[in-house]
Amino acid sequence: MRTSILNMLRNYSNEYLSGEEISRQLAVSRTAIWKHIQALKQAGYEIEAHPRQGYRLKGVPDRLLPDEIRDHLHTAILGQQEIYYYNDIGSTNNEAKKQANLGCHEGAIVLSEMQNSGRGRISRSWFSPAGKGIWLSLVLRPPFHPYDAPKCTLMAAVAVTKAIRRVTQVKCGIKWPNDILYEGKKLVGILTEMNAEMDVINYIVIGMGINVNIERQEFPEELKKIATSLSLASGQLVARLSLLQEILIELEREYNNVIQHGFSPVLDDWRELSVTLGQTVDVLGGSKQFSGLAVDIDNDGALLVQTKDGIEKIIAGDVSIRPQA
Ligand code: BTN
Repeated sequence: MRTSILNMLRNYSNEYLSGEEISRQLAVSRTAIWKHIQALKQAGYEIEAHPRQGYRLKGVPDRLLPDEIRDHLHTAILGQQEIYYYNDIGSTNNEAKKQANLGCHEGAIVLSEMQNSGRGRISRSWFSPAGKGIWLSLVLRPPFHPYDAPKCTLMAAVAVTKAIRRVTQVKCGIKWPNDILYEGKKLVGILTEMNAEMDVINYIVIGMGINVNIERQEFPEELKKIATSLSLASGQLVARLSLLQEILIELEREYNNVIQHGFSPVLDDWRELSVTLGQTVDVLGGSKQFSGLAVDIDNDGALLVQTKDGIEKIIAGDVSIRPQA
């Protein structure tokens, strides 16, 4: 009902819509309409009420509300299924795994305005302040072999990089395997988690943390030198909602392509968007530590590093790019 009222108000945009007209079209009492309008105002919508003319939508809140996300979202699955929205949560990845275990649909998403215990790769934490970023996890149930799952992370990095470039013009690039950087500082982190049997994936949760409108002084001291945000990179505030919608659209496009044509086009796009290839890198993987030139990724998405002893294939680990002299 609330969504229908909002849609009607949106369609009238600058004009007033009478309570009588809304109650007639939706076949509910004017008192019920009034109650829903109060609830929408509570959620942060600016709705002007004129005693004779009715209601007018003046503004939508800067929140990633499910109704706003679905409005004009041209996807078939991502964001069209369950949207679990929170003001405050521990970790959206944990919640997405919980919902996936309970049987939510493929394409369900979990979002929170802030996270109290946002998780990063290698047991790190993820800084997720309120209303300043996109803290998002989505559930996929891909028809691939579990062996292919790591490439879903590369697919997500490609999709998010393309969406960011399109919406903000910020020329960010991908550091292997899936960090998105701008001028050497981290804009986006991606954490993919999987639940699988030997040869079937039950679900994959792709979690992404996108630093959208975080000011320099808002980053904790230890992140100031290594992290940045889209507003810092572009010099202006970035609309989180349009960016989120573009990410969902782009990710769905990439996902459908992978299902139809395999991972090869994604790997080519990854190469094109990479800031790692052609650079000297320091690799820390398990007990091994070495340096070399990042020359390519192979068909499995592993990083190939040319060292003095030959080519090393990196499947997992921490790779840092040597600053150029
Ligand atoms: C990294 O270490 O680079 C990965 C960071 C991933 C952070 C995102 S924020 C949304 C989702 N929920 C989490 O707890 N982590 C991911």
